[in-house]
Amino acid sequence: MSLLKNFGKVITACKKEYRKKRYGEFELLEGYSEGSVLCFGDNEDFMKYLLQKQDMKGKIQQIYIDPPFFSKATYDATVKVQNDEGDEIKIKKRAYEDIWEEGMEEYLKMMGVRLMLMKDLLAETGTIWVHLDWHGVYYVKVLMDEIFGEKNFINEIVWTYKSGGSSKSHFARKHDSILVYGKSKKYYIDIPKEKSYNRDYKPYRFKGVEEFQDEIGWYTMVNMKDVWSIDMVGRTSKERTGYATQKPEALIERILEAGSKEGDLVADFFCGSATLAAVAEKTGRRWICSDNSGVAIDSAKARLENKQMSML
Ligand SMILES: C[S@@+](CC[C@H](N)C(=O)[O-])C[C@H]1O[C@@H](n2cnc3c(N)ncnc32)[C@H](O)[C@@H]1O
Repeated sequence: MSLLKNFGKVITACKKEYRKKRYGEFELLEGYSEGSVLCFGDNEDFMKYLLQKQDMKGKIQQIYIDPPFFSKATYDATVKVQNDEGDEIKIKKRAYEDIWEEGMEEYLKMMGVRLMLMKDLLAETGTIWVHLDWHGVYYVKVLMDEIFGEKNFINEIVWTYKSGGSSKSHFARKHDSILVYGKSKKYYIDIPKEKSYNRDYKPYRFKGVEEFQDEIGWYTMVNMKDVWSIDMVGRTSKERTGYATQKPEALIERILEAGSKEGDLVADFFCGSATLAAVAEKTGRRWICSDNSGVAIDSAKARLENKQMSML
């Protein structure tokens, strides 16, 4: 049966799982900045615990997640270890798998129940940012319309970059999509300004319009567009942790600056090497992060304890 015909069944299965009160075990790692916590375990268990035991309903201002993309691939992290001779060597460790034996339905069931829990955790003024690519984004968009309401859709941010994605059989795939929804119509967002160059880079001199000039030419400042060009984390970048699907801090910083203020609580329940936590620390936000991969948690801990070079 086609996925579309089965969509109702997917939602029903998600709701059934969401209503189950019992949750499994996980490990909490505290001792970071006040009000921040890292969790090693499945995020469904962790979120149920936050809702049932920590009274966290409606307490998170912004959630960003970068879950598996339905890529049908496995991902590694490069880790530094000592060999028998005491020399430091680099080895690859399996970080996580993005393989779904039962296909898209299984993936959507995994996502759906977690998105329902995230909705409960979000504040009335909160926003959720879900980072995906062409593999799953259009199916997850339908799922999110169902869970968050079509009317609460805010943006599909296109993050474009230079590396990867090249082939002779298709145009180079150089973007990811980030779906943004508000918990309600009262959502908070601060849209930054960006330069918009005038035609022929010449001044327009329109009455009441402030214009500026730089080495390229004349421009005005306009509300930022939904296509963002930000470089991936480079091989030699200082922020590189060795975690395969690490996202750039500049991207996460733009997201956090738009969706929350200093002192707010933000979360990433699929945190990998904890890029969100690292940026939240730098920009004065409290954070909650989780991952069910031991390699991800080691990478996150090393990064948050300012030892990320030991992971490379
Ligand atoms: C794309 S990576 C995140 C990378 C991260 N944004 C970064 O900058 O390093 C997705 C992460 O989701 C984690 N993950 C997958 N399923 C999970 C689950 N059920 N609970 C918690 N984490 C999960 C994986 O272990 C992986 O680290």
